[in-house]
Amino acid sequence: MCGIVGYIGNQRASSVLVEGLKRLEYRGYDSAGVCVYQNGELNICKDSGRVMAMAEQIADDVRFTAGTIGIAHTRWATHGEPNQTNAHPHTDAGGRIALVHNGIIENYATLKQFLEGKGHCFRSQTDTEVLVNLVSEFYNDGSNSLEEAVRPALHEVTGTYGIAVMCLDEPEKIVAARKGSPLIVGVGTDEYIVASDASAIIAHTSNVIYLNDNELVVVTRDGMRTLTLDNVPVTKQVEQIEWSLEEIARGGFDHFMLKEIFEQPEVVGNCLRGRLDLRDCRIQLGGLDGVRRELVKTRKVVISACGTAWHAGLVGEYLFEDLARVPTEVEYASEFRYRNPIIEEGTVFLSISQSGETADTLAALREAREKGALSLGIVNAVGSTIARETDGGVYIHAGPEIGVASTKAFTCQLAVEAMMALMLGRRRFMSQNSMNTYMEALSRVPEQIERTLEQSDRIREVVADYVGYDNWLFLGRGYQYPIALEGALKLKEISYIHAEGLPAAEMKHGPIALIHEGMPVVFIAPRCATYEKIVSNIEEVRARRGRVIAVATEGDERITRYCDHVFYVPDTLAPLQPMLTVVPLQLLAYHAAVARNCNVDKPRNLAKSVTVE
Ligand code: G6P
Repeated sequence: MCGIVGYIGNQRASSVLVEGLKRLEYRGYDSAGVCVYQNGELNICKDSGRVMAMAEQIADDVRFTAGTIGIAHTRWATHGEPNQTNAHPHTDAGGRIALVHNGIIENYATLKQFLEGKGHCFRSQTDTEVLVNLVSEFYNDGSNSLEEAVRPALHEVTGTYGIAVMCLDEPEKIVAARKGSPLIVGVGTDEYIVASDASAIIAHTSNVIYLNDNELVVVTRDGMRTLTLDNVPVTKQVEQIEWSLEEIARGGFDHFMLKEIFEQPEVVGNCLRGRLDLRDCRIQLGGLDGVRRELVKTRKVVISACGTAWHAGLVGEYLFEDLARVPTEVEYASEFRYRNPIIEEGTVFLSISQSGETADTLAALREAREKGALSLGIVNAVGSTIARETDGGVYIHAGPEIGVASTKAFTCQLAVEAMMALMLGRRRFMSQNSMNTYMEALSRVPEQIERTLEQSDRIREVVADYVGYDNWLFLGRGYQYPIALEGALKLKEISYIHAEGLPAAEMKHGPIALIHEGMPVVFIAPRCATYEKIVSNIEEVRARRGRVIAVATEGDERITRYCDHVFYVPDTLAPLQPMLTVVPLQLLAYHAAVARNCNVDKPRNLAKSVTVE
């Protein structure tokens, strides 16, 4: 959620840093700041608000025009309100060390007390200022080098951090470290860029090294050195970032979210590419090769995730039980991690995460591993922590998802779950015939999503009639129940309309009391085994004068008798329907948010990647 950029090279550091911050801004956006070394000083500018505001302040400031080394930060507040004092970089009391930090120092209060006892004074309410003073305590007026001060300071810290640090006495150096918060170093020609996210680096180089937890990197003009917090040297492989800058740009759409909704045919296609072997009737998921034998013996799948990824997990429960006949449970990662969960033999623990960095999802994964589960991941961000800490896994290949409300990652997560369930099912009991039918249907999904997207303009027109309504219900059964939850979440996230998703049959046990002419109810009702039952639920709503919008299967004329509006999706097998039915709901939320003048790509209070608890 917060973003870090650091630069050492021959360019004007402030320009590189500001440009990097702008690219990171989607991760957090309540304050921004830079520190540039120039004329024997650490020059700092920071403020609450957007990066642009801070950039304007330094544009004509001579203290920032010549320096070629610096660090910068964009913040999403965790400790202390978003204001200038709490913005990063923070300096120690003497102003000789400057530090930017992502994450949370959990024992900051105890450390602060200790430091106050040693005479350190504090200006902000942040845990970060405590950390920089702790580094300064170990720096001991220069009797240790910066890295020799950072290491023991981090040993005292409980919590998570990605940090970049500079020191006035060693101005040609950036020390960076991580634990639970991502950090990457871009290796350019005569320049290095330290960043918490690849998007801040790729304009300069696609060569990077990924830092692991409890590792530290010392970057100077002459090169870099990686070591553990215990001072053991670590050799790093330089890897290539596959994403291009263009992929990150908005591509002609008004918002990243819309662009990403429209990318779904392509990215779901990418996700399936090379994995569906229709000729040999096999699904090949290379990331699971190393665990093939154990997978066949799976007795139970436990899926853990947060937010939209959790909804994908719920669909996964239906898929794994239906197609692979494996008992499956879905857990909120935040609950699982603190519950002292029971992991039985034969349990496969599956973490789903777009970013691969969500703090709760990561902690739940570590808990499950500790208890002996085979851990797998369904992740988008290549090289992310969850991807690296699982025993095996499948990348969804959705490309960078910038819109805070997740869309294309969701459909790709569903595609991967379907492939995993089919692969497992086939190895256990599924006939070649059934497998063929599913695989063929799966290969048609990208083109079917494309067709569904053609209704975008119509959905916008329909939504225009509804934007005044402040309460919505989303109802579905079976595979469509998680889609009801996801439809409601999308609407809440970006248009701030109150919405609830429920299994349709539960409506009569309470929520039916809410139905009246001012309550739009969205039924997700494609043709499937429970179709007749959901039609009965629609009639119950009609009888109470609720306004009904349905998502139905192409050719279903009958449903129009009961509904005010119908959006159609192409026909497919029930387990694959969620990849189609969610699309009109994403568009509905998007057009409602635009009609209500909401900032779609930067919805209030939300962060794309939640790397704190
Ligand atoms: C945040 C985002 C959600 C996302 C959730 C899980 O809350 O706003 O859109 O679904 O995190 O993120 P992950 O990266 O783990 O999928």
